[in-house]
Amino acid sequence: MQKVLVSFRFFNEWIKFLKDNGLEVKAWDSPVPPSKIWIKENISDADGLLCSLVNRIDREVIDAAKKLKVISTFSVGYDHIDVNYAKSKKIRIGYTPEVLTDATADLIFGLILAVARRIVEGDRLIRFGKWNQPWTPDFMLGTEVNGKVLGIVGMGRIGKALIKRAKGFGMKVIYNSRTKKDVDAEFVDLDYLAKESDFVVLAVDLNPTTYHIVNKDFIEKMKRSAFLINASRGKVIDETALTEALKLGKIRGAALDVFEEEPISSDNPLIKLENVVLTPHIGSATYETRQKMAEVSVKNLLAGIKGEQMIYEL
Ligand code: DGY
Repeated sequence: MQKVLVSFRFFNEWIKFLKDNGLEVKAWDSPVPPSKIWIKENISDADGLLCSLVNRIDREVIDAAKKLKVISTFSVGYDHIDVNYAKSKKIRIGYTPEVLTDATADLIFGLILAVARRIVEGDRLIRFGKWNQPWTPDFMLGTEVNGKVLGIVGMGRIGKALIKRAKGFGMKVIYNSRTKKDVDAEFVDLDYLAKESDFVVLAVDLNPTTYHIVNKDFIEKMKRSAFLINASRGKVIDETALTEALKLGKIRGAALDVFEEEPISSDNPLIKLENVVLTPHIGSATYETRQKMAEVSVKNLLAGIKGEQMIYEL
């Protein structure tokens, strides 16, 4: 019987699906991810690994696997996997793009509206009993989204889904990416994007070229009235530089779904800032999308084990 290792808490019905397909399954069952030691011990005789972004699949883990044919990740991002090393060992890698594009783009738009129109701040105000003045024309003023410039860094699937939404909101879209794309938006260099955007959205994957792509230098170029939105990976922003800029009012606000360290610690200074909206890495977190991600990742895993074509392979 072939064996698969599931190294994060996964849906029971999909674990059953794997068993019904004749596989022996060893599955981790806690929201706290397993240690590297546990993964190394259990991967040694596994034919397939189903992992998520909470697992670091580095050389050491890959070397511990003696018969691994496939790594299937329950994510579109794959910065947690040493892809080149795995490929050098003839291990195939599956991932889950496309199925989470709309959910993630929706969340990004939610963040844009939330931070621009101070929605979360308003909710806090009421909950903490601080709505103690009648309606006045200057109360809780936010920033209009309609007619503003959206600057998208990266132009993959999520970038394109953002363009569609931005048009509906009457925004002008500019973008920067490695190459010019055939999209209904203006291709600009990164400096111009930083200077001209009212809302900067990061829609890149994390790799050595995007690590801290938003740093002190980038933020210095942004308008004081601008907002920064990130639902990609925390490490694309230098969080220390951003926190400092927010405290000094160098930009108006930020909305972040991802962080350099997750979960963020309770003493992270971002938590204290009013002009920041924070969500706990929920870009793809809808019932529908997580089911699609489960289906794709499980089918990728089965295909990898059987030597068949995966739905999405790196
Ligand atoms: C991913 O898939 O990479 C997201 O960060 C979680 O869905």
